Amino acid sequence: MSPDDRPEETFIPPDDRYQWGASISDYGEILYGSLDVAGVDTVLEIGAFQGRLTEALLDWAGRHDSQVVAVETDPTEELRSLQAAHPELTVIETTSLEAIPAAPRFDAVIVDGDHNWFTVTRELEAIAARAGAEGSAFPLTMLHDIGWPHARRDTYYAPERIPDEFRQPVAREVWLDPSEPGLAKSGLFYDCAAVREGGPRNGTLTAVEDFLATEAGKGLEFAVIPAFFGLGVLWPESASWSGAVSTLLSPYDRNPLLMRLEANRVQHLVRRDVQARILHQLAHSGTFKAAELMSKIRNLGTPAVSVQDIEHAIDMGGPRPADAKKLDEMLAERDG
Ligand SMILES: C[S@@+](CC[C@H](N)C(=O)[O-])C[C@H]1O[C@@H](n2cnc3c(N)ncnc32)[C@H](O)[C@@H]1O
Repeated sequence: MSPDDRPEETFIPPDDRYQWGASISDYGEILYGSLDVAGVDTVLEIGAFQGRLTEALLDWAGRHDSQVVAVETDPTEELRSLQAAHPELTVIETTSLEAIPAAPRFDAVIVDGDHNWFTVTRELEAIAARAGAEGSAFPLTMLHDIGWPHARRDTYYAPERIPDEFRQPVAREVWLDPSEPGLAKSGLFYDCAAVREGGPRNGTLTAVEDFLATEAGKGLEFAVIPAFFGLGVLWPESASWSGAVSTLLSPYDRNPLLMRLEANRVQHLVRRDVQARILHQLAHSGTFKAAELMSKIRNLGTPAVSVQDIEHAIDMGGPRPADAKKLDEMLAERDG
C-alpha cells in the first residue's frame, strides 16, 4: 500500500522525542477505537506526565463532547497549560489510590502511573470498588507497560509510597536488558527498579493476573496488545459493547507477529545504548582526538569523522528519557 492509499482517518503517531515509543498515545487506533465503541463519556487518565496523551484525549473528547480527568502526582508545566486552556480537563494532583475513590464519575480508565505490583493491584481493586459502590460495571480499563520490562519486574517512581512488605528489593539508576533477569551493564535506563525480574508480587502483568484471579476480576475480558511495551485492556463481558471491543482488539490480542516485532524492537533499543556508550567513549578518547587531528591535517581542514559527527550519530541528547547530563556523568563514572 502506498502512503496515498491510506484511509484518511489513519491515526498519525505522536512526535516521539526520545524514540522509545513510550507513550500510550502510540496505540491511537486501539485506544480511541475502544473509547468510541464503548460510548465513553468521561475518561480517567492515571499518570499524565507532560500531557501528551492528555492532549490527544482532549482532541478525542472535543469530538465526542466528553470529559478528561487526569491524575498526576507531579503535574508538569505542559499539563498545567493544558488545564488552563481546556475547561473539559480536570487535573487531580495526587496519587491514583487517593484519586480513584473521589474523582468525578468516569466510565473508562487509562492506567499509566507507577508500574509496580502493589500500585497496579490496588488501582484495579479501587476501580472495582468504585464501580461496585455506584452500582455500575467495571469500566473499560487500559493499562500501559504490561510487557517487558515491567511485566514481571516492579519499577518505582517513589518507593517510599509502597509498604515495605509489598516492595521488592530495589536498585537505583540501573540498566535493564531482556536477556538478563538481574541488573545489566547496559540497556534501558530506570531510576528505581526491582533487583530481579519474576516471582510473586513482581510486575504489572503479574498484578493484572492476580487481580483477575480474585472475586472482583470475575467476568472480565482481558486482551494483551504486545507492542510498545505492552497494552492490557480489561472490560466486562456483560457490557452491551463487549463484542465490539473484542472485534476491534482480537487481531492484535497476543498476536505472535507483534510479539516478535516487539522483542526485536526492544533488542534494538538495548543495543543502541551499548553502541552509544562505546561511541561516546571512543569520541572522547585521546586516541580519537589524535586521529581526528591527523585526518584534519591530511584533509586540509575537515576530518573524515569529527567528535561532533559521532555525537550527532548517537544523539546523546535525544534518545534518552533520563536527564541527559546526569546520564552522561553516570556513564563517565561507570566507564572511567
Ligand atoms: C509513564 S508516565 C505517563 C506517560 C503518559 N501517560 C503518556 O502516555 O504520555 C507516568 C507518570 O505517572 C506519574 N505517577 C507516578 N506514580 C503515580 C501515582 N501513584 N499516581 C498518579 N501518577 C503517578 C509520574 O509522575 C509520571 O508523570
